[in-house]
Amino acid sequence: MTERTDEVTGRGPFVVLEGVEGAGKSTQARMLGVWLESCGVPFTLTREPGGTEVGEAIRNVVQDRPELSVPPKTELLLFLAARTAFVREVAQPVLERGELLIADRFSLSTLAYQGYGRGLDLDEVRRMDGFASGGLVPDLYVLLDLPVEQGRARQKEAGKTGDRLESSGTTFLKEVGRGYRELAATDPSVRLVDADGTPDEVHKRIRAVLRREMPETFASCED
Ligand code: TMP
Repeated sequence: MTERTDEVTGRGPFVVLEGVEGAGKSTQARMLGVWLESCGVPFTLTREPGGTEVGEAIRNVVQDRPELSVPPKTELLLFLAARTAFVREVAQPVLERGELLIADRFSLSTLAYQGYGRGLDLDEVRRMDGFASGGLVPDLYVLLDLPVEQGRARQKEAGKTGDRLESSGTTFLKEVGRGYRELAATDPSVRLVDADGTPDEVHKRIRAVLRREMPETFASCED
């Protein structure tokens, strides 16, 4: 019998921001935080693969060391190792208090980057992700939709140098972009938001999606 000690029960709403590099996730996460504070919704904002001490350590290995050669399955297992800690230490306590959790990336990233980008078998990635996340599934993925080239151009403009994954080449990133779109077409929990626009414009689009899709959670917030 499989023991599922990580299983999350009786839980608050869980929203995840996703997108390719340069789509503006971090900016949008910050803006969402300000909005939620203004309307008094208790929330926790986190990022994957960080958010826990071990997650930050894994992030250092998997992202910040472009010189390391990391086989695709090793990369997958590192992200999933961080996810297990994230679910147990961050997500579970917040959701069990019935509070809103907003995460910068979750399982959809793994499917897009390690599944499509690295070419690992999608069903296998899903299965292993289910094991790592204890079956925790977000209520809503907000996918910031931007062509890969445009995201890269934004990053260049902002003077950001690529980390190990970003340096993996245009073909890899294009596959990630294609993966996101394919996943969005088949997963009913994914909503695409056009990320082409000023931060304010994109923020308003996200607000509208959240109010429409999760009216109970965002009832006290203005459009
Ligand atoms: P970010 O902090 O800019 O979002 O970067 C996180 C990087 O890690 C980004 O290149 C995507 C990658 N990533 C994966 O490849 N798989 C995953 O499961 C997660 C969470 C992130």
